[in-house]
Amino acid sequence: MPPAPHAMMLTAASDLATREAFWGELQTFLEADVRPRLRPHYEHVVAPALGPAADRHAIAGAMLDYPATRAWYVARTQAQRQAFDTSRAIVDSQLDALSAQLEALGNGPARLELDPDLAFPDYVEREAHNMAGGYADEDCGHFFAAGAAYDRALAIHRVAAMGPLVDDVGHSIVARLREAFPDFAPHRVLEMGCTVGHTLLPFKQAWPEAEVIGIDVAAPGLVFGAARASALGAEVTFSQRNAEATGYPAGSFDLVFSRILLHETCEEATRAIFRECHRLLRPGGIMFHSDAPPFDELDPYTQSLRDWDIRFNAEPFMEGYYAMDLEAEFARAGFAAEDCFRLYAPSLIVARGYRAEETRTRGGRYFLAGARKS
Ligand SMILES: C[S@@+](CC[C@H](N)C(=O)[O-])C[C@H]1O[C@@H](n2cnc3c(N)ncnc32)[C@H](O)[C@@H]1O
Repeated sequence: MPPAPHAMMLTAASDLATREAFWGELQTFLEADVRPRLRPHYEHVVAPALGPAADRHAIAGAMLDYPATRAWYVARTQAQRQAFDTSRAIVDSQLDALSAQLEALGNGPARLELDPDLAFPDYVEREAHNMAGGYADEDCGHFFAAGAAYDRALAIHRVAAMGPLVDDVGHSIVARLREAFPDFAPHRVLEMGCTVGHTLLPFKQAWPEAEVIGIDVAAPGLVFGAARASALGAEVTFSQRNAEATGYPAGSFDLVFSRILLHETCEEATRAIFRECHRLLRPGGIMFHSDAPPFDELDPYTQSLRDWDIRFNAEPFMEGYYAMDLEAEFARAGFAAEDCFRLYAPSLIVARGYRAEETRTRGGRYFLAGARKS
């Protein structure tokens, strides 16, 4: 078993660790080995029957007439759910030890600001991506458990494959930003929807002098994330705020970003978040949002593969977000059309060959769309 990546993740009892590994392996197998084998049915049966004008909805519907696709949907849903449940069971079995650890790390260097009066948005799914209890689950009396389970699930399940600290996305994006904007060196950085800080921490490592803040509406991720960041020696702030209206002064950040936040927010909230980004940035500052590539970057068959996430993985806003005209929305929020950009950040761990087998499901690059404030 690999060593725990930080002091807030503890070794699991062997029966639970075996279950966790099984569901993680099954997720990877289904994505990397089984899903591609459904494609010939599309090419030889569905595409000829539907013709070249078929959109993602028609393709997804026709693919579901194929028994192997239905079996894949059922198995994938179950693997996803069980993987999260097992990580949560491990965390629940370690709550006292984790609490003691959290207490011991309480004095930083990471900072934590909670706002118990902050309203929790209605649109945030309670079972997002089949994670029972969701991000804000505080039922068990240990209010960091949902954050600990999220961290564990992403770090351990091989389908995630973003490194033990789940920081490949952050490091890869930083490298791509440096290449695209060589003059850019932020003093104040804000991540919206940071959960436990997987993507946040690489920004502090990249610009150690910068003040780096992560906000989220859900307390468990922030509480756990601050302890995890302290365990890793990262001087960052976790603050409970809504990305739609953060309360920070206008023009107070050089870099405002999100990672896999916007496919989980409704259209109205997404628009408010773009406006808030524009308000928060200083002239010359950069906004970007990293998520899976939008539909206009993909062929119709690849678009249709999102059907499982949207309808069976509790991701109801993916359809709307991936169909959004991002540049039109950035313009509506105040950014100039000529200042918008789309980039792909090649994965650094894939390039290094690190855990190459595990990373094979992710395509080896991360999408981001954004704009620089003129
Ligand atoms: C998929 S997670 C983000 C993961 C994280 N960005 C990372 O890279 O590790 C989505 C997060 O967005 C948060 N969220 C949803 N709506 C929000 C909002 N309006 N303001 C702040 N956080 C929000 C959720 O609570 C959840 O923690």
